[in-house]
Amino acid sequence: MAKLTVSDLDLDGKKVLMRVDFNVPIKDGVIGDDNRIQAALPTIEYVLNHNGKAILFSHLGRIKKEDDKPALSLRPVAERLSNLLNKPVTFVPVTEGAQLEEAINNMADGSVLLVENTRYEDVVNGEYVKRESGNDPKLGEYWASLGDEFINDAFGTAHRSHASNAGIADAMRKDGKPVAAGFLMEKEIQFLGDAVNNPQRPFVAILGGAKVSDKIGVIDNLLDKADKIIIGGGMTYTFYAAKGMNIGNSLVEEDKIEVAKNILEKGGDKIVLPVDSVVAKEFNNDAEHKVVEGDIPDGWMALDIGPKSVAEFEDVLKDAKTVVWNGPMGVFEMPNYANGTLEIGKFLGTLSGATTIVGGGDSTAAVKQLGVSDKLTHISTGGGASLEYLEGKALPGIAAIDNK
Ligand code: 3PG
Ligand code: MG
Repeated sequence: MAKLTVSDLDLDGKKVLMRVDFNVPIKDGVIGDDNRIQAALPTIEYVLNHNGKAILFSHLGRIKKEDDKPALSLRPVAERLSNLLNKPVTFVPVTEGAQLEEAINNMADGSVLLVENTRYEDVVNGEYVKRESGNDPKLGEYWASLGDEFINDAFGTAHRSHASNAGIADAMRKDGKPVAAGFLMEKEIQFLGDAVNNPQRPFVAILGGAKVSDKIGVIDNLLDKADKIIIGGGMTYTFYAAKGMNIGNSLVEEDKIEVAKNILEKGGDKIVLPVDSVVAKEFNNDAEHKVVEGDIPDGWMALDIGPKSVAEFEDVLKDAKTVVWNGPMGVFEMPNYANGTLEIGKFLGTLSGATTIVGGGDSTAAVKQLGVSDKLTHISTGGGASLEYLEGKALPGIAAIDNK
């Protein structure tokens, strides 16, 4: 369904409420990866260039008690945003009340303001009341009352039903004010949506990561849609167990072995498993390690896919027209077990005729570490959101945007 987008709105002189996802890694006040801030710039700049007043809302981290607040202030993000936009950003250190309202009333057209972390509202008077993350309608109504229009560009938060995304949207609609998608939201929906619902074939999904339980929904949804599903990472060995293979000390989810069996039965030769593994004596980069084919010997644990698996996966991928990748092939944070993930990432970067899409925090970190991110078609800003999208679920943040 086509959604109303920012380019459909008249922004001139308007108070434009914008939900962005500035939930970026921050340690001791220093921002790590600012990809999510960069990804929001096109919509913010568009609003400013069209003379709108950009009033930005985002959460940061998770707040359960008063003491969580200071370290999770958005102030450092306001500074980074100001550098990236090359213009001042007014930071308002509260989430409601006269100080916020005055700051908004004092805005010039084409200026930008960032409200403090919306999850500050989760703890009120020392009590964990989840006004924001529980979508208290009163809070959504209050924020909606501060603006004329609402743009949701927070794809990374779209799987959450918060006051600052779904709540504002519902309240705006009640008041007859428009709710539109930003350019980032639009792009994410286009790439992930086309991959899942309207892929150029062959469509190959690569699913990795430690746990089958995290990926069951995605595998289920993609079994009917993808031409091949490549499985790697720690969850491989639950599938090995389902096949009656030896897994040594490898990671396994005992309670998911039946599920894995069903997936293998249903998927048949659509499912492609690793044929060899890098195994180690311990979960440690410097532990004794070697490559084995098939069964994992007793006393060893598998920590990466082996070179034959890489070659077989590349053979499956070489003719693909659409590739979606979620989850690493091994423990790529440790150099001795990074090869599988790195080789697959590099190979995807060579597939010039294919649309290649990466979702999920770990695989995104891996392609960055590799330096191939700009050779891939789309790197999603969503972790949980992209997974739930690939599961075929309706995401509350997207559902709350007006249709055209
Ligand atoms: C994310 O990073 O997954 C989103 O920003 C949502 O954050 P959350 O997982 O803390 O709800
Ligand atoms: Mg998350």
